[in-house]
Order: sequence, then structure tokens, then C-alpha cells
Amino acid sequence: MSRKILVTGGTGYIGSHTVVELINAGYEVEILDNLFNSKITVLNRIAQITGKKPKFYEADLRDKATLDKIFNDTQYDSVIHFAGLKAVGESVEKPLEYYENNIGGTVNLIEAMRAHGVKKIIFSSSATVYGVQESPEYVETMTTGGQLANPYGRTKYFIEEILKDTCTADPEFQVALLRYFNPIGAHPSGLLGEDPNGIPNNLMPIVMRVSDGRIEKLAVYGDDYPTADGTCRRDYIHVVDLAKGHMAMLDHLKPGVAIFNLGTGQPNSVKEIISAFEKASGKALPHYIADRRAGDLPEFWANPTKAKVELGWQTELTIDDAMRDTLKFLEHEKQQSLSQK
Ligand code: NAD
Ligand code: UD1
Repeated sequence: MSRKILVTGGTGYIGSHTVVELINAGYEVEILDNLFNSKITVLNRIAQITGKKPKFYEADLRDKATLDKIFNDTQYDSVIHFAGLKAVGESVEKPLEYYENNIGGTVNLIEAMRAHGVKKIIFSSSATVYGVQESPEYVETMTTGGQLANPYGRTKYFIEEILKDTCTADPEFQVALLRYFNPIGAHPSGLLGEDPNGIPNNLMPIVMRVSDGRIEKLAVYGDDYPTADGTCRRDYIHVVDLAKGHMAMLDHLKPGVAIFNLGTGQPNSVKEIISAFEKASGKALPHYIADRRAGDLPEFWANPTKAKVELGWQTELTIDDAMRDTLKFLEHEKQQSLSQK
């Protein structure tokens, strides 16, 4: 069986960690990314870790002709599709860009796959598709698409539906919808991590910028939620565990649509994340209590049982591991920028 895989968004945060796992497992990996939110230097970092530099196409999923050429060049066995825009606030300001990039790009990708007989795809979905539920423990059987708070979340929901329809039209298609909870951490080598271009809006990239002084203080969005310490609780999953979830999924693809939560099942509060970071760094993290952020839910986490039973996958790393690896990545980045001065 061919082991050739195309990874869209493969120089991004989750994609790059997954590429490392794929190469280490013997897959032949090619990456397609337009570098909108990632850096070309990630390729050298992947090579440093694995000993192999993957073939790279600097290309945009919205460019149909280039996609066709890429699929002409190589007969892939499967595609792992990470590429997309993911800034929630920006998606409210620029909904059409999000629909064009995320949905338009995915439709082009599926068309290219169909035209070249590639029928296996793993898609990066999100816990956001669950919207508001009665229980904060999300299970794959819950309905999706209700009360989604923003266009970003709707693109994930719509893409899930588009992939389901693709399977109905062609029963040979093998689709996996992986619903990620909150990815954090970095590669234990310190060579890969989350380094978004522009101003971040997720918790850990902001914590990282506060710790090295690029941001003065972390605003904790509300401490009056109905949780033990009053701050919101989320299911933070180490990015290496998340990457390994894709490996397990590849081994279990079969015709039709498979849906899995990838999370730990154990929520942590914002205050617990701050404490874990402070413990790992040995320094206080400057922060203050701010107003609630619109659209935030008090708490939610994954029920990860289905992935454990059917894929034989479960998380192994802790939030302390994630903080340690994040600090290693920050230290490596600091050394790199000093050596370039
Ligand atoms: P990321 O921004 O680091 O990676 C996405 C990559 O896709 C970037 O390298 C970007 O340059 C590329 N890209 C975007 N649009 C493209 C296009 N039109 N053509 C080619 N390349 C394009 O994000 P990430 O955190 O690694 O997330 C990967 C996927 O997982 C995304 O689809 C995201 O929505 C999803 N996801 C992320 C999280 C999270 O918290 N990080 C949670 C749930 C789901
Ligand atoms: C957010 C998105 C969600 C998306 C996910 C991953 C919103 C409402 N939801 O989820 O759609 O799938 O990112 O990209 O944006 N926090 C602070 N201060 C900060 C930043 C965050 O206190 O400066 C808190 C938040 O209130 C939240 C937690 O930290 O409780 C995690 O926030 P974040 O990383 O943005 O993830 P989510 O809100 O879970």
C-alpha cells in the first residue's frame, strides 16, 4: 500500500507535529501550505528532528490549477487536512474570508482528490461544532451546529457536513472528522511549537508572550463563572498526543464517515493553567481579572471513550509536560533570535 500522504497546513502548529510523527512512522510526507500563518523554517526543524525534510509546496488551496498540478505529480494514498484560518475574533470581522478560505479551499481540495482517485481524508474539526449543549462533557453522538458562536465555528460545521455529503455520493470515500479540544504544548525537542503570525487570541500563545515580555499582562476573562475557582475550564491536550491521534486514525480509516473527539477528558481552569506555567518556569506570570469574553462557555471537555475503544488511542502527557515543552520552545526561540542579532 502506498504510504504517500499530503498534509495541508503542514507547516502550522498541529500539522508540523503530526508531520514529525508521520515521518517517524515511515510515511512519505508532502506538505502544502501558503505560509499565511507559519514559517518556512519549520521544514528545517522537522528535518532536525526526523532526519528527513518533507517535500514542500508553497501553495494556496484556493488555487485550483496548482492543486491539480500537485495531485498530478504524485499519487497520494491519503490527505490530512489542517489548512485553514482559525482566529475566532477575526472571523466575526471578516466572515467571507473565512468562508472562502476554509470552505472554498476544502471544496477545491475534495474536487482535486476526486479527480485523481484519492479517497481518504482526515479533517481537523473542533469541539466548537458542538455549540451549546446541556452537558459540558461532549460526546460524538450529540447534535452539532446549534448556537455556534462565530463564523470560524460555522466553517468547521459546514465542512463536516460537506465531507459527509461527499461520502454519501461516493461510498468509497473514507472520511475522519477529528474534533480537537484545546491543543497546547510543543515538541519536547523545543524545535516546534505554536508561533502564530500577528496577535494571538488563544490562551497559551498569550501566556507565552507574557512570559517573555512581549505582552505585559494576561487578562483572565472572568472569575465569576460557576466553576470551583470561578474561571473557565477547558480540556487542554498536549499537541504531541493530538498528533498521535492522527496516526491511530490513519490505521483505522474505512469507507464512510468516522467521528472522534480528541481530548483528555480532564478539564483545567484558567487559574490552573497559570499555576502550572508558574510552577514550570519558577516565575510569577503577571495577570489580572478582566471582564468575561463574549461567547465563552463556562466549561466543556471531551468524552474521549470512543477514541480509546475504537482507535486504541488515549492521551499520555499532562499539562505539566505541556508547560515544560512550551518553555523549552520559548528558550529555543530566544536563543535563535539572539544568534541572528
Ligand atoms: P495554524 O494556523 O498553525 O496552521 C494552519 C496552517 O494552514 C497555517 O500554516 C496556514 O499558513 C495554512 N493555511 C491557511 N489557509 C491556507 C490556504 N488557503 N492554503 C494553504 N495553506 C493555508 O493552525 P493549527 O493550530 O495548527 O490548526 C490546524 C487546524 O486545526 C486548523 O484547521 C484549525 O482550525 C484546527 N483546529 C485548531 C485548534 C487550535 O486550538 N489550535 C482547535 C481545533 C481545531
Ligand atoms: C477558542 C474559540 C473556539 C476555538 C478554540 C481553538 C472562542 C469563544 N472560542 O476556544 O471556537 O475552537 O479557541 O482555536 O474564541 N482566556 C483568558 N485570557 C486570554 C485568552 C483566553 O482568560 O487572553 C481564557 C478563555 O476565556 C478560555 C480559555 O482561556 O476560558 C481558553 O481560551 P482559548 O484558548 O481562546 O480557547 P477557547 O475559548 O476554548
